Amino acid sequence: MTEQQKVHPVSDDFAAKAWIDKEKYQALYQQSLDDPEGFWAEQAKRLDWIQAPTKIKHTSFDSHNVDIRWFEDGTLNASANCLDRHLATRGDQTAIIWEGDDPNESKHVSYRELHAQTCQLANALKELGIGKGDVVTLYMPMIPEAAVAMLACARIGAVHSVVFGGFSPDAVAQRVIGADSKLVITADESVRGGKQVPLKDNVDAALTRPGTEVCEKVLVVKRTGGEIEWKDGRDVWYHELVDKQSSDCQPEEMNAEDPLFILYTSGSTGAPKGLKHTTGGYLTYASLTHQYVFDYQDGEVYWCTADVGWVTGHSYIVYGPLANGATTLMFEGVPSYPSHGRMGEIVDKHNVAILYTAPTAIRALMAHGDNVMDSSKRDSLRVLGSVGEPINPEAWEWFYRVIGNSKCPIVDTWWQTETGGILISPLPGAMDLKPGSATLPFFGVMPALVDNEGNLLEGAAEGNLVILDSWPGQARSIWGNHERFIQTYFSTYQGMYFTGDGCRRDEDGYYWITGRVDDVLNVSGHRMGTAEIESSLVAHESVAEAAVVGFPHDIKGQGIYIYVTLADGYEPSDELKKELTQWVRKDIGPIASPDVIQWAPGLPKTRSGKIMRRILRKIAANECDGLGDTSTLADPSVVDELIENRASR
Ligand code: WTA
Repeated sequence: MTEQQKVHPVSDDFAAKAWIDKEKYQALYQQSLDDPEGFWAEQAKRLDWIQAPTKIKHTSFDSHNVDIRWFEDGTLNASANCLDRHLATRGDQTAIIWEGDDPNESKHVSYRELHAQTCQLANALKELGIGKGDVVTLYMPMIPEAAVAMLACARIGAVHSVVFGGFSPDAVAQRVIGADSKLVITADESVRGGKQVPLKDNVDAALTRPGTEVCEKVLVVKRTGGEIEWKDGRDVWYHELVDKQSSDCQPEEMNAEDPLFILYTSGSTGAPKGLKHTTGGYLTYASLTHQYVFDYQDGEVYWCTADVGWVTGHSYIVYGPLANGATTLMFEGVPSYPSHGRMGEIVDKHNVAILYTAPTAIRALMAHGDNVMDSSKRDSLRVLGSVGEPINPEAWEWFYRVIGNSKCPIVDTWWQTETGGILISPLPGAMDLKPGSATLPFFGVMPALVDNEGNLLEGAAEGNLVILDSWPGQARSIWGNHERFIQTYFSTYQGMYFTGDGCRRDEDGYYWITGRVDDVLNVSGHRMGTAEIESSLVAHESVAEAAVVGFPHDIKGQGIYIYVTLADGYEPSDELKKELTQWVRKDIGPIASPDVIQWAPGLPKTRSGKIMRRILRKIAANECDGLGDTSTLADPSVVDELIENRASR
């Protein structure tokens, strides 16, 4: 039997105690399709509304008029749902367990404390002149203040835009400008794997870029006390302003469709786009999926290892768990520091029941052998989760056997920044698991496969993954550019949301995501547009032309392979390779570090001048025998040259 055919059936014992078993899944899924209005009206009751919604679903995927609204006459406040409503019943329960980069540093923040801190920051934001509708950029370490900042924005109706702390000053600048952001909240430095990252220096550099003048203030958390520059009049210490504020702040009444946050992500073309997520539908969906997909039971410690800079951190470290009154663990560091046993040690230390992580982290540990987990027992674990990229069956089985001691179901959750929450995933008490498959759709989600012409494929098939109707967690638009939203997601296949992913459906109706079918790379679970990296490269004086493709990488899933044509007067050299590598890292961030650079005297192009990436991908993957038809190339000899001088890795 190959790995792919293995099935791990749901255990009766697990199903008996789970929120959702097979029968319940079938019944609720059917109901969610037959009567979406009734289903979601019922689910929305899990939130505290100020005005309960009476209008439930108003959505259109018609490319002439994409219009997505959920619960549109309801009003609520997201921070009140994550904090205030828990105070009476669980004020002293831990909301956030913070585990520092240094294993000797950790702390517990109760719901009451988190509420007070959020109110204090909310009042501080008001003092800084921030109000409803203003955009606040967060560029922060993984510390409780990051969650406090998100919730404080939500409390006063400001819109947060979190920028991953590993991105460059240019990326920060681009996002400050794109969202007209008046305030940046950051820290002096972040700490990861024993090393400091100069967040405040990066913000200083970002705010020298033209266009960033909109940003008037920088609020700085003192995390390390490291040396930083200070700009009087602009920079404000977090503790100096926040500590003196009242811990009372009335939450702003927000419409369900008022924006909660913007989050930038990469696409196949152009600069990263800021997806707009709104309040009522997003929170309903994040909270519901968190409870059911992880089978979260009251009192359990839940740990998602993502960074708050990504959507996974938004929905499944902050909003979903806190809306559910869960205890959510936030880890500042990296799984390999101080040793590769760290993840298991954290599980033991804090009694973690649910561990949600990424295939790339699992593969990195797996590379060190089974003994890498010997420093921990991990008996407290009950459910495991995977997200960000396809998980190969070998990594799945290792995760199951070594980390989960062969007793925890794995939920392989497929979703996207655009979807706001998990769309295809096992519910651990309801689905028999097949390693490598995200299994079946969540309630209210209608996945389908289409061929390149947009024809729906029935039964067992492979094609492009689309979603046929709206769900409440879906992004509503691209910030400031609804036309681009329509173009990107609703114009490829009429009347359908196009995910950009390829997918296979097997004879049991299980979905197997095969990866992106567009020019988006997924490197260690991080999304990057090839176009972004190319435009960074061609901005270097030595580069005449560049083409970027992904190639299979044992640990990262995909690596970055770059073909560079040099400008006249430049010669290939190892120094130049290093320089270009540094250039991209500085421009975009270390996550965009090239794995391979190949000098290319010419690139394979069609007669109309279009680069044939299909060929470049094959050469990068060392599949030079299956290049297919090259007869349409302007100069087929270019290909032979590239194969001959294929860069070794
Ligand atoms: C990929 C992350 C296979 C996919 C939540 C998607 C996955 C992109 C899975 C979104 C999974 C995410 N199996 N592929 N379980 N989860 N992906 O926006 O290609 O950072 O389109 O959201 O990651 O990445 P994003």
